[in-house]
Amino acid sequence: MSFLQKNDDLKKYSIIDTRQFKDPEVLDKVLNLASEMEELSDLSDNWIRNNELHDSEKDRLVELREKLYLSDYPRKPIMVSLFVQPSTRTSFSFTSAMKRIGGDVFGSENAKDFSSFAKGESIEDAAEVIGGYGDVIVMRHPGDENHPGNKVAVNFANSCPIPVINAGAGTDQHPTQSLLDVYTIRKEKSRLNDLNVAFIGDLKNGRTVRSLIYLLAQHSNNKIDLVSTDDYTLKLDMKEWLREKSPKTGIKFYEYDIDNVVDVLRNADVVYMTRLQKEYETGRTDAANNSAYILTPKHVSEMNKDSIIMHPLPRVDEIDPAVDDDPRSKYFEQAKNGLYTRMALLNMVLTEKHGITDWEYDSEKAANSYK
Ligand code: CP
Repeated sequence: MSFLQKNDDLKKYSIIDTRQFKDPEVLDKVLNLASEMEELSDLSDNWIRNNELHDSEKDRLVELREKLYLSDYPRKPIMVSLFVQPSTRTSFSFTSAMKRIGGDVFGSENAKDFSSFAKGESIEDAAEVIGGYGDVIVMRHPGDENHPGNKVAVNFANSCPIPVINAGAGTDQHPTQSLLDVYTIRKEKSRLNDLNVAFIGDLKNGRTVRSLIYLLAQHSNNKIDLVSTDDYTLKLDMKEWLREKSPKTGIKFYEYDIDNVVDVLRNADVVYMTRLQKEYETGRTDAANNSAYILTPKHVSEMNKDSIIMHPLPRVDEIDPAVDDDPRSKYFEQAKNGLYTRMALLNMVLTEKHGITDWEYDSEKAANSYK
């Protein structure tokens, strides 16, 4: 049988921490599955929009459908979408992804107000209860005093009888974003090692930055340039983690003030822009200011011809829209890649038919933080 077995410990299929994908070979298989999902989506879209497929393309579409649809289930598998923080890309791409592989979706896009979290229900009780209604839960949560960072996702997953996918946890982790980020990098640069990646903007609050760094650090000879103002530097725990990792994979990191951004841009293979996350700076009177970070066509003219510009989005004003037409700008493709990556992840979490193992969630390791 290809769907998950009744007696399995379904928790082990959760995706909570980017470090579950630390083995480059396992990651490669996941990205290959996402690549097939892209092919499936392209062929289906072409068929729907143009009704024009060659015979060989029709055969390929049938082959991919047989392999990738969740057709072995006795009913449509159900994804519960539980977002306690706003989202466009993650929420909608997960919903589209589930429907594109034959599943069903229900949930709340404003679970903070329209679920019993508003009445004070605990994370653990909510997980136990909602886990009885679906086959997989996709959850985003900002964290709180009792559950800072990824702890909220860990506690939820550890109390839930079905697999949970972390769709963003506070300022800590956004594992599915980092997987779509490496999918984009591999597609554009054909490698995940020997890369010079510049992260620019709010490196303190950016969960996408942290999650992507975890993955880049597992591949050989990558160099990370961190560009921010003093107020928004990468947190100390991440720098310590990188120093520990360095002897194993050769990962190196350097910090720069925003005044040196041009030097950094000249040497980057990948420029990863981020917005200032004002939602985490509510106590500040000196309101966070994006103006220090705006990437303009003048900056881009300093970059290598084959470098790429990424951004997890949403963008506020840190990339001048005049940069959008530059062929090196990949942020909208990156958002689209989220669809294929999430199709692959849902399929992988809900079936065992692709034989991709060794990424499975370890609730004890997660509770003590993965290394
Ligand atoms: N990149 C990202 O997580 O976007 P959303 O907040 O729109 O989901």
